[in-house]
Formats: sequence, structure tokens, C-alpha cells
Amino acid sequence: MTSYSLRNASPAKTKTDAVVVGVLQGGDGPELADGGDDVAKAYGRKLRPLLSTLGVTGKAGEVTKVPTGDTVASPLLVLVGLGKEVTPAGVRRAAGASARAVTNAASVALALPASTPDLVRAVVEGHRLGGYAFTTYKKDAKDPKDSAPAEVVVLSPAARKKDAATALDEAQVVADAVATTRDWVNTPPGDLRPPAFADAVAAATKAATKGRGAPKIGITVHDEASLAELGCGGILGVGAGSDAPPRLVELTYSPRGAKHHLALVGKGITFDSGGLSIKPAQGMHEMKSDMAGAAAVVQATLAIAALGLPIKVSTFVPMAENMVSGNATRPGDVLRIYGGTTVEVLNTDAEGRLVLADALVRATEQEPDTILDVATLTGHMVVALGDKVAGVMGTEAVVQDVLDAALAAGEEFWPMPIPEHMRERITSSKIADLAQHDWIRWGGGLYAAAFLREFTAGLPWAHLDIAGPSFASGGPSGHVTSGGTGVAVATLVDYARALVAKG
Ligand code: BES
Ligand code: ZN
Ligand code: MN
Repeated sequence: MTSYSLRNASPAKTKTDAVVVGVLQGGDGPELADGGDDVAKAYGRKLRPLLSTLGVTGKAGEVTKVPTGDTVASPLLVLVGLGKEVTPAGVRRAAGASARAVTNAASVALALPASTPDLVRAVVEGHRLGGYAFTTYKKDAKDPKDSAPAEVVVLSPAARKKDAATALDEAQVVADAVATTRDWVNTPPGDLRPPAFADAVAAATKAATKGRGAPKIGITVHDEASLAELGCGGILGVGAGSDAPPRLVELTYSPRGAKHHLALVGKGITFDSGGLSIKPAQGMHEMKSDMAGAAAVVQATLAIAALGLPIKVSTFVPMAENMVSGNATRPGDVLRIYGGTTVEVLNTDAEGRLVLADALVRATEQEPDTILDVATLTGHMVVALGDKVAGVMGTEAVVQDVLDAALAAGEEFWPMPIPEHMRERITSSKIADLAQHDWIRWGGGLYAAAFLREFTAGLPWAHLDIAGPSFASGGPSGHVTSGGTGVAVATLVDYARALVAKG
């Protein structure tokens, strides 16, 4: 485990295995960014020609390594591009890229722009997450390119200010939550079926509540018998084709003095084969990530509790494995959602909305002020927004608050509508209250949101469709590594922070 500390010191005099500085794309050539001034001074007039010879431009994503000789105290200088201006998002990305560039170092000094708490946060989150590696299944887990440095010194002129120190601590809490979300998403689906996933959530919750000063978090795990008793027909129907029974995990964090009550709901399909409406073979392995929403809401809840935010959080996590068997739910079957609404299943691959329906109704019973659901719900959203941007739909004011939180968290979300005519489509079943699908491709992501809204009892609500950004199929970029990304965790935490700040 890496330990991060904050220090107000010169990057030229700090002796670590490597020192990282930012480079800006200036009007007349690259220039070292704020934080790297002492390094620039140490190089003096040699700096410009050196950067030029190295081909350094300062564009985002660029990483250049230079042995320093004796010019500065650290033997290795790492130059990371920040683009044209300093922003927390750019610093987060650059810090992430620098973490992967420096491998096999015991200590690293980060001399990136870090004069404000926001920037300190971006440096720490970026570095911790950019250096993330999932090595559980590697024979040789000690591969030096997968091991993070033991000691990272974040250099900041604000090091002695309380808000900067708090930002450093809180950034580690959030980054750890994102990293565990990634671990869960990256775990092979056969090793994280619903009972195992529920156990993992229970173990993480127990660990988070252990020790003096730790927060209290209540947990209830509903097994298949309990789900049948409750009448959670959506979760049971989706899980019917799997040998591993479904679960519904409920968490409650209810600190003293809470003025707001937030409900979180996350889609926990541990593997989505599509069921009888089976998916094409290509890419099916990525459907191990169909529980990314569940992982995100659990880890956000634990992070909110660890930060001691005075806000009540009730979290609902339906878990099922969408498989094919003689017991699998058929297209044409009717399921009875918790609370009684009947739904005609027309495509077993639109399973997320079915498990979420039960969980949303459970959430409304707690009468929260707001409900946020997070789900890898539709390929339509990926077609619309690409694989790096999540869609957000629902009550206008809640959607706006989610967008503001995402901006603070450095995650990309975009608002999408739920057009009124969608209601005609979702009520088109000839035999049940609702049709789960209508075989019209257009606007499928909005249809799904309209369907979910039916189960929110008119409470303020937003639906976060993270199908695109939850899993990075390609290589790493900035602080986002390949595989599970942990998207939405940071946004949810910032959403809670903003509620607390509202008072
Ligand atoms: N889990 C998928 C959605 C998904 C697609 C997540 C791509 C991540 C990447 C979901 O259960 C699904 O299969 N959705 C269908 C819905 C359709 C049948 C209405 C889809 O998007 O095609
Ligand atoms: Zn799915
Ligand atoms: Mn599906």
C-alpha cells in the first residue's frame, strides 16, 4: 500500500527515486507548470533546448522521462503534459499517466500544480487510480510494473493548511473506494456470482465498521427464500436461469444529525448472457461488468460513511446472474414486481430494469429525499454518448445536481430526456401492467429510464446509465485503467457532499 503525504518543499531538493512535474503547452513552446518552478530554476537556460530535443510539447497524455544527472536531488525527472491550462481534470489525468510511467520506484515526489485543495485531491486520486492494477489472477503478482511506490510525497505550497491536508485524506478514501469497485468489476464472473458478491459486500461493510471511531452501517442480505417471501419477482425472474441464487443486499448508514436521506440503487447482474434472448458471442465476456452499478453504490456508501458525512444513506443492491437453463424466464412470461406491478418480459436481455424495479420500490418505502440508481443499463446509451460518457435522466433538479457533482468529481455525465411519449411504449403490454421492451430500437435508453420511473413513486430521482464508461475495453488513459473503471463512485460521494453543504 502506498502512503501519501503532503509537504511544502522544493521539488529540486526533495530526494526521491523520481520527481514528477507538469508541462503546459505555452504560446511559445512548452513550459513547466506551477509546482515545477524550482526544477525549472535548477535547469536554468538548459531547460528550453532540453525540452525541445526531447520533443516535449506539453500536450495532455504526454509522458517523458529524463535522467537528471545531478541537476536535481531525484535521479529521474518525469515530465507529464497538462495541455493548455491547469484544471483539476487535467491534473487528475496527468497524475494518473505519471503513475504508470514510474514503475519499480520506492518513492516518488509529485510536483504537479497543487496549490488548492481541489488540485491536491486531483493529484492524489489521479496517481492512486492511474497506478491501479488488478493482479489477483496473475501467477507472478510481484511484476514491478504492477507495483505502486511505497511512498508518494505530494508537494504543495498549501501543505500546512488544514483544508489541503483534509483533501489529501479524503482523496485517498475516495480513490480506495474506486479501486475496490474496479476489483469487483474485474473479478471473473464465475468467482463473483450473487451469493459470493453479497458475501464480499458484507465483508467490506464489516471491515468498514470495525475499530474505534468507525461508522455504523447496517446490512441485510435477502436470500432467495426471503426474496420469495417479499415478492421480489423481478430479481427472482432474472435469476431463475442460474444455479447461483439471487440476492438483495440492503445497507443503511444513519449518522446522528443527518438532515438529508439519500437512497442509492445499483444494478448487480454478476453476468449477463442475455438469458434466452441470448447475446452474440463476441464481447460477452465483458458482461462480467454488469454489476458495476452495484459495486459503485456500495463503495460510495462505504466512502460516505468513512468520510463521516452527516447524511443518511439507504442502499439497495439487487444481484442476479442472467443465464440460460430449463428454468430460465421466457420471453412472454409475466413477473410480479415487489409491490404488485406486473411486467411482461419480451426480451430477457433487458434484465437490468427488472431487478432494479424491485429495488426501487424497496427504496421508496424508506421515503428518502432523493433516489439515485446506477446501472450498466443499455447499449443504446453507449451508441448515443460513447464509451466515456454516462447518461443521466430523471427529475430535472436531481439531474442538475448529479451533473454538478460529476463536474466536481472529474467524471463525464450528460443529461438525456425521458420524452412523455415513452409512457405509451412502456404501457403497450396486452396482458400486464407494463411491457419491459417493445422491439423498437429507437430511444432504447430513454425507454429504460421511463420504465424505471414507474417504480419511483414520484420521488425526486435520477437514473445514471453507466453502460459506456463502466468498463474500458482498450488500454489505460490518464487515471482510468483498462477493465473496470469505478465510474460513478466519486460522483455519488460529491453528490452527498453537496447535499451536506446545502445544510
Ligand atoms: N447489460 C446490458 C447493457 C450493456 C451493453 C452494458 C453494453 C454494457 C455495455 C443490458 O442488460 C442489455 O443487454 N441491454 C439491452 C437492452 C435491450 C434488449 C432493450 C441492450 O442494450 O441491447
Ligand atoms: Zn445487463
Ligand atoms: Mn442484458
